Amino acid sequence: MTVQSSGTQEIRIEQDVVLARQFVRKLAQDSGMRLIDQTKLVTAVSELARNTIVYGGGGAMDWEVLEDAGRNGLRLTFRDEGPGIPDIKMAMTDGWSSGKGLGLGLTGAKRLVDDFELDTAPGKGTRVMIGKWT
Ligand SMILES: Nc1ncnc2c1ncn2[C@@H]1O[C@H](COP(=O)(O)OP(=O)(O)O)[C@@H](O)[C@H]1O
Ligand SMILES: [Mg+2]
Repeated sequence: MTVQSSGTQEIRIEQDVVLARQFVRKLAQDSGMRLIDQTKLVTAVSELARNTIVYGGGGAMDWEVLEDAGRNGLRLTFRDEGPGIPDIKMAMTDGWSSGKGLGLGLTGAKRLVDDFELDTAPGKGTRVMIGKWT
């Protein structure tokens, strides 16, 4: 697997969610991802970027364009140094929200992508890595 290009975008304010969506859409288009998969990925980006702001107090999205055995992929990592998630099992349950959300962001994002990794602990912040392949 090779990394073709990579970078980081700040996720601090609502406008950054829009920018992240547009940016990932462009990366996905350039990777030759089919439209339906582009839309799935961008939907996951919305959910995770919003969580980064609402629960994480802001952070960043690292992006990588990958190539592996003739397939193109995108790997995105949403990270923050917020409070972290005390109960991962709860957070990964459909319909559970610690706030007033629908509680479908993390679970929904997981279903929309090929790779999903959640790394979090109280006081350690949160890191969600997603990947999608052509
Ligand atoms: N970046 C984060 N930092 C801290 N807690 C988070 C983060 N992302 C998600 N969570 C926790 O996981 C729960 C579930 O998230 P999600 O599935 O997106 O649902 P919702 O945003 O509707 O609450 C949130 O209510 C919150 O408690
Ligand atoms: Mg959410």
